[in-house]
Amino acid sequence: MSISIIGKSIGESATLKLNEIAVLLRQKGEPIIHLGGGEPKTRAPIDAITSLTGLLNTGEVRYTPVDGILELKQAIIRYTEEFYHRKVEPENVIVSGGVKQAIMVALQAILDPQDEVIFPSPYWVSYPDMIKLCGAIPVPVVPEDGTFYPRFQDIEQNVTTYTKAIILNSPNNPTGALYSEKFISEIVQFCEKEGLYLIMDDIYHRLVFDGKKAVICYEHATDLSENSKIIVVNGVSKQYAMTGFRIGWAVANKKLIKVMSNIQGHQTAGPSVLLQKAALGALNGVQSGVESLRLTLENNRRVLMDQLNAFDGIKATKPDGTFYVFADFSVYDKDSVRLSKFLLDKVRVLTMPGKEFGLDGYLRLSTCGSIKDIIEGIERIKWALDPNSPNELYIGERKLVRDWL
Ligand SMILES: Cc1ncc(COP(=O)(O)O)c(C=O)c1O
Repeated sequence: MSISIIGKSIGESATLKLNEIAVLLRQKGEPIIHLGGGEPKTRAPIDAITSLTGLLNTGEVRYTPVDGILELKQAIIRYTEEFYHRKVEPENVIVSGGVKQAIMVALQAILDPQDEVIFPSPYWVSYPDMIKLCGAIPVPVVPEDGTFYPRFQDIEQNVTTYTKAIILNSPNNPTGALYSEKFISEIVQFCEKEGLYLIMDDIYHRLVFDGKKAVICYEHATDLSENSKIIVVNGVSKQYAMTGFRIGWAVANKKLIKVMSNIQGHQTAGPSVLLQKAALGALNGVQSGVESLRLTLENNRRVLMDQLNAFDGIKATKPDGTFYVFADFSVYDKDSVRLSKFLLDKVRVLTMPGKEFGLDGYLRLSTCGSIKDIIEGIERIKWALDPNSPNELYIGERKLVRDWL
């Protein structure tokens, strides 16, 4: 079978694959604890549901403009004013099928084959493959000081004449690190000076803890005209617990948004009007759900960190935001894919292997589940890994016996 070079270069999304495995095992009645998840367990806001069903009940569900319905764009404009203190126009906004598609069409609009895109490592799993889909080259940058907080010089050292764009995701998936004002300011100014695109993946920007605030990139830009090469992406998936609704957006200069719309028009056209209505309901509706999600995540982070701090040999940096703790399990196994599989096979706990995020030896653990799941999940992992554990563990009625070292 003849497959394209690009097609062959793209791997399966490891996180989606593991999620599917968890669903299948659960359907078979297996006592799975999902510590790998990247989606809140709360329900979508009622305002999203009523807005969607209102239209659905009319039975008139049609195509929309490729770049999104005007009402939703207006809600995104208000959102941008409220959270970024920036006034934009409808032509500066495109609504896409999730933040994933917003990033994808942005990359397709700006990249030529062989261009390079820099992003700090660890990184969100999809960046490398999305860049490869454009025939371009991903350049993950590991902070030299071994932290999850990249410094400007780490990025600058990797810039070549082929560099076209930088992607920043803060707070970060998988580390939860919130990048400093100084770092973001330096990157914004550097991109302006060098004429590079800067994609700010702000999908977790309202899910930040300890009274900290995500940095607003625009506040560090000198040029906010239609020449600006800053692209801010955001969406409803995480903050409103609406992952399955698949609505995200990008805010950028009008020319670029037009090109992105042209591309999206031939890919998927505008996202489903029902889902756009749902996003509209979420953005215009009662906002208390976002804050209560943030508080729950902050509390769950404390529980998970306490569990990990009491776990011999595990090193975990306290995250500043998001749903994740990225913990170093290398004392038990340096191969995170093997370790993750082992934990799923032996104690039915799903974790995400750090290798998929660019750092082997680590596991990404999620705070999206219940406190009971977090505590029991870590207890099971401890039992599986600690050679001094008792020989048996009960999961409900089921007796597990250690038949490994
Ligand atoms: C950093 C980051 N960007 C983008 C996405 C994709 O978001 P969406 O579900 O809205 O496509 C995710 C989802 O996990 C993410 O973690």
